[in-house]
Amino acid sequence: MRMAIASLLFLLLMTGTVQADDAAGRAILEKECGSCHAIAVTGDSPLAKAPPFREVVTRYPPENLTESLAEGIVTGHDGMPEFIFEPEEIGDIVAYLETLKPR
Ligand code: HEC
Repeated sequence: MRMAIASLLFLLLMTGTVQADDAAGRAILEKECGSCHAIAVTGDSPLAKAPPFREVVTRYPPENLTESLAEGIVTGHDGMPEFIFEPEEIGDIVAYLETLKPR
């Protein structure tokens, strides 16, 4: 039974029918962006000039960032490498950013 569940999960992951995973999105952001930006709902950005993501999402709705994430964020990024993400990574990232939106 356990095997069956594992292979079902694998299948779902492969076919992309699994829901966007905000924890995975957070992990990506921590790895790629966390050296400059504050990722969490509290705390300062390691690089003072980089806005915390909880502020970014008040200026840009996360769903609008999808396109920039796919094409690479270039605007106004002092010393920031250009990032290009896979669609499933973007789904996860946007899912996490949605959790930062003030409600
Ligand atoms: C090397 C440092 C660094 C890294 C790494 C970095 N950023 Fe930034 N980011 C900045 C700085 C500095 C700014 C502010 C630029 C400015 O206001 O001139 C910024 C601004 C932004 C903005 C706001 C742009 C705007 O027009 O207001 C977004 C969105 C953003 N970053 C997303 C990301 C994402 C997503 C990642 C990871 C994939 C990331 N950044 C990684 C330094 C970085």
